[in-house]
Amino acid sequence: MFGLFKKKKEVAASNPDLNYSGIVVDMHSHVLPGIDDGAQNPQESIVLIKKMMELGIKKIFATPHIMIDYYRNEPENINAALEVLKAELVAQNIDIEIAAAAERYFDETFEKRINDRRVMTMGDNYVLFELSFINQPPNVIPVIQKMKEMGYKPILAHPERYNYMTIDQMQNIRSWGCDLQLNTISLTGYYGKQVQKKAEEMVDAEIVDFISSDMHHPRHADAFERALRTSYLEKLLVDYPLKNNML
Ligand SMILES: [Fe+2]
Repeated sequence: MFGLFKKKKEVAASNPDLNYSGIVVDMHSHVLPGIDDGAQNPQESIVLIKKMMELGIKKIFATPHIMIDYYRNEPENINAALEVLKAELVAQNIDIEIAAAAERYFDETFEKRINDRRVMTMGDNYVLFELSFINQPPNVIPVIQKMKEMGYKPILAHPERYNYMTIDQMQNIRSWGCDLQLNTISLTGYYGKQVQKKAEEMVDAEIVDFISSDMHHPRHADAFERALRTSYLEKLLVDYPLKNNML
């Protein structure tokens, strides 16, 4: 009966030299200075970017939040922040490819943005969006369908973090042509055991299309490195049809 209370045994990655060079691109991060809850100034941005580079990342998409009540970012100020960061990278002689898109919150203004084609994309028309952490909006599938019809390729950010969402629901969303992006730090237990378990189930169900850091601050950077020691990330990095390097 004591077995019931035994902590689940963590399985370590078999390759201690594992890094992120195989995926090439980190496509979800909050490294633009001063426009959301990520890096607050170029110095903080550089700390995060250096860590990504050290772990094998060759190209970064900065994806600041766009959220009507909290982060009223627009393409104009996002691109301006990107230019500030690029200038700092040049000044410090840091050579990394960096581009900007956004992490668009699925609120009542999202559909209008799609209709107006005022969304920031990455790669071949990919659009990263996130959902409420409380409940799933009723119109997620119709909006995904509309995005597809308009030629966009939706990517749902970190579905493992939405506690209401089952693996079946993820599979349904994915069946409508929406890719799923996992935060690798979820595999370390950073967001708790429940999220870790859901992340592992996603890997096992082979429904992970993109992986990323969702890096906001140095604690995320540390967890991004720690994730490399998990067997689940090894599985994703060694033999899994991820799409990161298409971006
Ligand atoms: Fe994010």
